Amino acid sequence: MHKLIIKNLYVKVADKEILKDFSLEIKSGEIHAIMGPNGTGKSTLSKVIMGDPTYEVVSGEILFDDKNINSLEVDERARLGIFLGMQMPLEIEGVTNADFMRSALNARDGENFKLFQFIKDMEATVNKLHMDKEMIHRGVNVGFSGGERKKNEILQMNLLKPKMVLLDEIDSGLDVDSLKIVGNEVIDYYKREKPGMLVITHYQRLLDYIVPDYVHIMKDGHIIKSGNKDLVKEIEEFGYDIKVSKNSTCVVKEKVNNE
Ligand SMILES: Nc1ncnc2c1ncn2[C@@H]1O[C@H](COP(=O)(O)OP(=O)(O)O)[C@@H](O)[C@H]1O
Ligand SMILES: [Mg+2]
Repeated sequence: MHKLIIKNLYVKVADKEILKDFSLEIKSGEIHAIMGPNGTGKSTLSKVIMGDPTYEVVSGEILFDDKNINSLEVDERARLGIFLGMQMPLEIEGVTNADFMRSALNARDGENFKLFQFIKDMEATVNKLHMDKEMIHRGVNVGFSGGERKKNEILQMNLLKPKMVLLDEIDSGLDVDSLKIVGNEVIDYYKREKPGMLVITHYQRLLDYIVPDYVHIMKDGHIIKSGNKDLVKEIEEFGYDIKVSKNSTCVVKEKVNNE
């Protein structure tokens, strides 16, 4: 059982305060969705959990398995099992996709790294994601379309087998067929590995595949309302200017079953 706790986090970027008293707790086997207007700090949250040095933690704590990870580097957090599928995955020229993933796994597993198993897993996942096989041997995300980049993030997730998965708008850039493929692949992974998951999205469509146990509305740098999956329908109806009553936060009735 793993646990990510974000406690009263304040984060600044370029001298602007983005996250303001943000708190959230995610355990293994839980799927949390965050929805909220553009520019409210959702991507900032995901990047700061991953340790992106662009973002300055002014105060507050990020704990993984009860250990403060505020000062750990990105690769150290990755080795703990935290994974971020980015809203805008970057291109890496000169390193092929296969080499990139092989070195990440090699660095983590050392002598336990099994090349044959890695190749088998990669080919199987590429097939399941309906990706072009040739992409394995191209530079990471170089010349990939938006949708192909998103699939590539999910390929990496499958191979790295993280314990805490953050997916930032994994649905953006995907057509309906790809959305279904990616949604199903994410939920398959969830069923196999039972990670904790944080899914950032604007759309109910993705959450039809990845059914969240908890839904949070984020505004002005923190969560203003939490609930179960029914909150998604409220958002579709009323937008993010949803009424927040004092005792409406963190009412979660039952955990849904993604079986
Ligand atoms: N590297 C950065 N430099 C300057 N401003 C940034 C940077 N990253 C994010 N911001 C600003 O922080 C705010 C929140 O951005 P972001 O976290 O991407 O929001 P969201 O993902 O909710 O749309 C925005 O106003 C954005 O312009
Ligand atoms: Mg964003």
